[in-house]
Amino acid sequence: FFDKKDIQLLKGKKLLVTAGPTREKIDPVRFFTNHSSGKMGYAIAKKAAEAGAEVTLVSGPVSITPPFGVTTIKVETAEEMYGQVMKYFDGADVVIKSAAVADYRPAQTSDLKMKKKDGSLMLEFERTTDILRTLGEQKSHQILIGFAAETDHLEKYAEQKLKSKNADLIVGNNIMTEGAGFGSDTNVVSFFRKDGTVAELPMQSKEQVAEALISEIDQLIKGRIT
Ligand code: CTP
Ligand code: CA
Repeated sequence: FFDKKDIQLLKGKKLLVTAGPTREKIDPVRFFTNHSSGKMGYAIAKKAAEAGAEVTLVSGPVSITPPFGVTTIKVETAEEMYGQVMKYFDGADVVIKSAAVADYRPAQTSDLKMKKKDGSLMLEFERTTDILRTLGEQKSHQILIGFAAETDHLEKYAEQKLKSKNADLIVGNNIMTEGAGFGSDTNVVSFFRKDGTVAELPMQSKEQVAEALISEIDQLIKGRIT
């Protein structure tokens, strides 16, 4: 998949990558989040930088080290991620949204620790901004790549996301598959393309998946030039 002569097209291009989960505050000791480790997005940022791209990584809270040669901006919430992404969007050539953005945040946050009471607790959640969808509505020259991590009906959901978010590519994976998904060092992904074709990749390291994605982006750039 990864042909050295192909990576030339990415050289000097401005890439914006998001990675990791977001963390939505409930009170000073509690938050709402998901299992994203950031490994996939960090691997993409690293490999893109090695291919000569100018990479900005907007990352939610993760425990891994930012890749060398990448401008890394740490954020906590979906709204903070949205703000940082919009700052870099106009200047970006390619945007890769691998972050697992929380779809909801607590409607109210408490400045003081909430004390437990008898009986059950009801929390109200409100929607966060769908960053990718907003980018899809506003994009001009940018190549836009989204992710879809599903437990079922991967093909159907990935294809819906390709259209509804006006993306140029969706990288889909079934997190129930052995060797795929959160926290793992490997991944099993498929590329869902705008022409309706699907490339099913074998199980490989997240770094190899990143390399395959970079050569896929190369093809997308090539398609725009010719
Ligand atoms: N995404 C985003 N902003 C959000 C939610 C998702 O930018 N508030 C992006 C993700 O980074 C990913 C893509 O949208 O690239 C798909 O995310 P996913 O959670 O799979 O899809 P949703 O549209 O949120 O739908 P659902 O969670 O119901 O499957
Ligand atoms: Ca979601």
